[in-house]
Amino acid sequence: MNDSPYLDPSLPTAQRVEDLIARMTLAEKVGQMMQLTATDGVQAIIEDFHVGSILHTSPERVLEARTWTEKSRLQIPLLVGEDCIHGHSFWEGATIFPTQLGMAATWDADLLERVARATAVEVAATGIHWTFSPVLCIARDLRWGRVSETFGEDPYLIGELASAMVKGYQGDGLGDPTAILATAKHFAGYSETQGGRDASEADISRRKLRAWYLPPFERVAREGSATFMLGYQATDGVPITINDWLLKDILREEWGYTGTLITDWDNVGNLVREQRLFPDYARASAAAVNAGNDMIMTTPPFFQGAQDAVAQGLLEESRIDQAVARILTLKFELGLFENPRMPDASLQAANIATPKHTNINLESARRSLVLLQNDGTLPLPIDAPKRIAVVGPNADDAQTQLGDWAGSSGQAPWLAHGHPREQIITVLDGLTDLAPEGWVVTHTRGADILTLGEDPAGAFFADGQPRPQVVIPSEPNAAMIADAVAAARDADYVVAVVGDRIELNGEGKSTATLDLIGGQVALLDALAQTHTPVIVVVLASKPLVLPPSAHQAAAIIWAANPGMLGGQALAELIVGHIEPSGRLPISFARHVGQQPTFYNQIDAQHGTRYADLTQQPAWVFGEGLSYTTVEYSGLRIAQPELGMDDTVRASVTVTNTGNRPTRETVQIYVRDVNTSATWADRELKSHSQVDLQPGESVAVDISVPVADCSMVNARAERVVEAGDFELLVGPSSRLDSLQSARFRVREA
Ligand code: NOJ
Repeated sequence: MNDSPYLDPSLPTAQRVEDLIARMTLAEKVGQMMQLTATDGVQAIIEDFHVGSILHTSPERVLEARTWTEKSRLQIPLLVGEDCIHGHSFWEGATIFPTQLGMAATWDADLLERVARATAVEVAATGIHWTFSPVLCIARDLRWGRVSETFGEDPYLIGELASAMVKGYQGDGLGDPTAILATAKHFAGYSETQGGRDASEADISRRKLRAWYLPPFERVAREGSATFMLGYQATDGVPITINDWLLKDILREEWGYTGTLITDWDNVGNLVREQRLFPDYARASAAAVNAGNDMIMTTPPFFQGAQDAVAQGLLEESRIDQAVARILTLKFELGLFENPRMPDASLQAANIATPKHTNINLESARRSLVLLQNDGTLPLPIDAPKRIAVVGPNADDAQTQLGDWAGSSGQAPWLAHGHPREQIITVLDGLTDLAPEGWVVTHTRGADILTLGEDPAGAFFADGQPRPQVVIPSEPNAAMIADAVAAARDADYVVAVVGDRIELNGEGKSTATLDLIGGQVALLDALAQTHTPVIVVVLASKPLVLPPSAHQAAAIIWAANPGMLGGQALAELIVGHIEPSGRLPISFARHVGQQPTFYNQIDAQHGTRYADLTQQPAWVFGEGLSYTTVEYSGLRIAQPELGMDDTVRASVTVTNTGNRPTRETVQIYVRDVNTSATWADRELKSHSQVDLQPGESVAVDISVPVADCSMVNARAERVVEAGDFELLVGPSSRLDSLQSARFRVREA
């Protein structure tokens, strides 16, 4: 033991790290900085590349990998990473929660912390130590394929929910055997796309970054997210992989971040191939390491490139040592040298898909549903037997209901068949199970959405790589529609479950339109003609543009890939067993041409509409109905004149004026009346949730530190500018729904 101090757990981590690095060859150190996919096997990447980490590893390969590291010279344990984004995505039979966007609709940080904790407990039992979650990107262009991975459009809400998930994943600290490493991604500005196109150049100024994109990252950096992942984007000509300002000046120096940075997928290769900043891997590898990247994801040529860079004097070995030290520190802090946290069958049996986790999942699914429209049809009266026609392509499509990063969504070859059908409750299952005695539930599909076909440009790229297939919208099918219409005519209510599919959602799957594609619009139009009340369920990864026949429907519910129990939650909502409480974390457009529709835009523009269309979205950030009515009154500020270090304290009375209970999300926005540079009209600063019985009134206390009433000036500095402000309080970001009261901030 004495001649291997790094194996001595009684020594301080720094000493163990130093000892181990001193024993490593340059090749072993470079390999330690690498994360490679294990989809093609593990022996070669461990023996030839000495990798420090693997990802996308089937359960069998996690076990096999251990046998190879045990045979290696220094027996350094691997960090096993995976995208466990809304549950343990690729572990067959794990608990799959609503997508991040669905969870954001709960506006409930405590619930999300419980979701992340449950996920960590499931993940930790399977030999995986690191999840690439949460996503802190701001979703502003709905065409972007990765909207469902985000918490939506508001930086405050993103910060609240991301912070909660990081806490949940990391538990009581990395020594906790159920803790997994969190990853704040994708740093920073990746979602600022052009035309919604994934990973396009992010045309974004430093002021804009500081104003909206960086604050959620700053929060979790300071709170100790163990790792940060970079995006794919370049800004002002500088790929994020080598962006000294963001990686060094902001993240490391200004925020004091000491965690580990991982690139995104083959970012170093991109520097050579697509971005073409460097002619070879020696230069690209040197630049990436010099900029501060610690772990290099899926770039095999980095192995030789980094060694060549050292030999050519482009890269100091001491810089490699710093990166390796961070990675080894994580491994020591997780205790992997003593206990490599291997997959453990008894832990899995005791911890995966437990009743406790299933309950958290059901709560998340229920709370994620957003009731957008209701003419009073919902909840369905259950006093007399009814006939319900359940139609639509997403009414009984179990795997589609789970969305991206789950089972068969394409990233895990070992789970191409998806999660066990019996664990998933579709809308059809839910309504069938829940239908009271004497009710009749029928089902017909009514429409298809799409098929896949060859790209017209050919099946292969010039370099021989296969081109991804393209979406071919299905034509409306007269026979299917006729069946659905017959079922609707024969029913008291129609539940039409429409939306999108995995082929329209995810990395590289941005969409040019936001329409319901395939035969879905024709189906809704035909159903509208039957005059049977139609409840439209939009089971879609992101907000879509709905046709007039949907806007005229009796009710509309948005379910953003609501997880395994989404169908049960939807059925419960429809028959009134639960109350709708979700609120939009992102606005719904009326037309794709309105993009972007986020609420906190700088709108010092001419007029408020297009010549041919309003600019108002169909539903804005924060909106969502309940089965009752709620009134806000008596907003009062305790002390309307404040200093810079004070806190705005106010109270508002919230009253349930209807006859069903509700959970109300009280939203607190601040408007800075005059600013030294153009700024958003109002920004969300705080929120709280209150349960109200029919007729109940509650005084809700509000507090917003003056320090949070800041803006970013033209020099890109975040400041509070003395002067007049308005506190805006209400049920959504919609101006006419907000109570207002003034306060004034004195000069410092
Ligand atoms: C690329 C994605 O951008 C990132 O979010 C993900 O974590 C990695 N691939 C690993 O799957």
